Amino acid sequence: PKCKGWVKPHFYFFQNFWSSQNIVKATISFQKNFQAKDTDIFLTSLPKTGTTWLKALIFAIAKRNRFNPSQNDHPLLNYNSHTLVPFFEFDIYGDNPNDFDFSTLLEPRIFGTHIPFPSLSHSIHNSNCKIIYISRNPFDAFISLWHFSNNILSSRSLPTLTLEEAFERYCEGMHPYGPFWSHQLGYWKASKDTPNKALFLKYEELKANTKFELKKMAQFLDCPFSEEEESGGVIDSIIELCSFKKMKELEINKNGKALENVENKHYFRKGETGDWVNYFSPDHCEEEEEKLRLEDLLQSLPKEKGW
Ligand code: A3P
Repeated sequence: PKCKGWVKPHFYFFQNFWSSQNIVKATISFQKNFQAKDTDIFLTSLPKTGTTWLKALIFAIAKRNRFNPSQNDHPLLNYNSHTLVPFFEFDIYGDNPNDFDFSTLLEPRIFGTHIPFPSLSHSIHNSNCKIIYISRNPFDAFISLWHFSNNILSSRSLPTLTLEEAFERYCEGMHPYGPFWSHQLGYWKASKDTPNKALFLKYEELKANTKFELKKMAQFLDCPFSEEEESGGVIDSIIELCSFKKMKELEINKNGKALENVENKHYFRKGETGDWVNYFSPDHCEEEEEKLRLEDLLQSLPKEKGW
């Protein structure tokens, strides 16, 4: 099946998710060719759920012995986190899959992808690698996606999407890598079935309790923070280095491009939780929740703070 795309003209329903033709091709190439190592770290998410932030945090945590988070030439001060943590479907298996040089990546290698759990390459499923997923309130992710898509459309002088039109497609699951819930549930189930291999995080919890969540991530990656590191301010330095305010103000994120055709500034909008209430009236919210079938689906998700 085919439907209207958001930024690209069309989406295709392939392996149970919606995406552009380029992503379908890249997914096939990734599934055929990618060889995972046990030391690899995979950062997974739906678009607009905090991928840029997660990439920065994990890069800073996993590479802290090589790059001190308080050093003033830390790579995160000069490169966007999408440059430091390449995406399978854009940077590696996108347009020129033979061009990517894996030998330049130092261990642990860190990769990003929006591809749903069941469509990850067999070598990932069969290895002892680590997978970290970031999830977000679906309404906030939707508002963020709507702004992001419209920014890209306007920068190409193309017509933008109305909120209503975009929301209708979103509720039908017709958005990049949608439907929302099957994406969440695939990774959620993996985190329950194999807790040492897959970790499920929430943007809201990361915002509310950043230090606690950072310790959880480091523990999960088998590189817990030592007492000396904690008392020496290493965790605080990572939080500061990766904070929304700090990242948004960097020259590379104001004026650079990590992915072809997308300016880095579009990855930094408000960085808050609950912004969606500014777009839907209170009466409307109830109606919208109904549309996303939250009640049915939340039964399968944990009833924790933030959702
Ligand atoms: P908003 O549009 O709600 O502001 P992704 O990285 O998956 O594309 O998600 C982008 C969303 O994460 C945007 O949300 C963006 O502002 C927010 N974001 C980017 N960097 C962040 C950071 N360092 N801390 C918190 N949120 C961040």
